[in-house]
Amino acid sequence: MNTVIQYQSGFGNEFATEAVAGALPKGQNAPQRHPLGLYTEQLSGTAFTTPRALNRRTWTYRIRPSVTHRPYEEMALGHMRSGPFDEVTTPNQLRWDPLPIPDEHTDFIDGMVTYGGNGDPAMQTGVAIHLYAMNASMQGRYFANADGEMLIVPQLGALRFHTELGVLDVAPGELCVLPRGIKFRVELHDPEARGYICENYGLAFRLPELGPIGANGLANARDFLAPVAAYEDIDGEFVAVNKFMGRLWRAAIDHSPLDVVGWHGNYVPYKYDLTRFNCINTVSFDHPDPSIYEVLTSPSEIAGTANCDFAIFPPRWMVAEHSFRPPWFHRNVMNEFMGLVFGAYDAKAEGFVPGGASLHNCMAGHGPDAETFERATDVELKPQYLANTLAFMFETRYVVRPTPFAMQSRILQHEYFECWQGLKKRFTGRNGDAR
Ligand SMILES: [Fe+2]
Repeated sequence: MNTVIQYQSGFGNEFATEAVAGALPKGQNAPQRHPLGLYTEQLSGTAFTTPRALNRRTWTYRIRPSVTHRPYEEMALGHMRSGPFDEVTTPNQLRWDPLPIPDEHTDFIDGMVTYGGNGDPAMQTGVAIHLYAMNASMQGRYFANADGEMLIVPQLGALRFHTELGVLDVAPGELCVLPRGIKFRVELHDPEARGYICENYGLAFRLPELGPIGANGLANARDFLAPVAAYEDIDGEFVAVNKFMGRLWRAAIDHSPLDVVGWHGNYVPYKYDLTRFNCINTVSFDHPDPSIYEVLTSPSEIAGTANCDFAIFPPRWMVAEHSFRPPWFHRNVMNEFMGLVFGAYDAKAEGFVPGGASLHNCMAGHGPDAETFERATDVELKPQYLANTLAFMFETRYVVRPTPFAMQSRILQHEYFECWQGLKKRFTGRNGDAR
């Protein structure tokens, strides 16, 4: 576990890496006979005819091709759910306490709990939002998700992802993305771990356009890290777990499927240190819409209307003059699921804590609680550094329907609405009289 992991930097680059010299064929993708006796297998993450700039595929050179497993059989889902989400709904603002770490032996697969989602994996649109809480490494089993890519935001505990394309160490304060279909297993660095997952059924996450910001800023491409080739040449009795059409399936496999000795391509798992995010914000008054905090976006077919955006609210300076600085009151056609990695979020005095979550769906009023409003209205405005905070948002064009677990669990805060009830009438009818 203490091995230093190497990475290659860039987003969407054509990477090339081999763990054994000669694993990558020279000058062609599929030689008649591989010099090291490896099998050639292409992994297509976009349609063959996707425009070149968006095309994603990787050529793998592996000990056995991916087809070598026994037939899949359906297995128990636990608390994992998938689109279409149609069991319950509510227009209310929702908030949850942190997901408890289980007492019993629980690995990454068993530890996934779905809070809600939208769309349908069969239509390759929408997202599912899960938290994971785990206390064990995956042993003897591997996971791949045919329904969507997984954007993982650790909140507690560092993880090591052994993927078929190499190894990623990911700690709280970072994110990682495991593309659709990539095989992996997860090891714990710490006794327990918890975090958030956006399972994206839609178009893969990418860097947003920057418009007038220019050629740099927000998340910069060179700060994204892809693994270098690393493989397991292990025979034994293992289980390959596959998420397909909202269900979990298990198949016996007599070797580790993480057996890619060399690969080249641009369909890769990656990680990103969120402290590298270059915040853009006002240096005069007010503050722009929270899209300035967008790290990654999964577009939909409507321009500027994301299947899902991933935005963060990191430590930053607040300098706006004669302005209400916290997030203002808001109603949104888009749907906002928020989590907190560490610290405090500037719109809430209490109740939204690390490992917790909130959901404000289409046109649900939300904003600062009464205490935060009073403070921000009366405070003397000076340049202020918001330290020790990392909140994030999955914002999606489709309403996030909560799961029965999310609505029935004891971690649901039934009293959430009360945080706004103290917002008293301040209107006086006469200009200048309001305190
Ligand atoms: Fe909002």
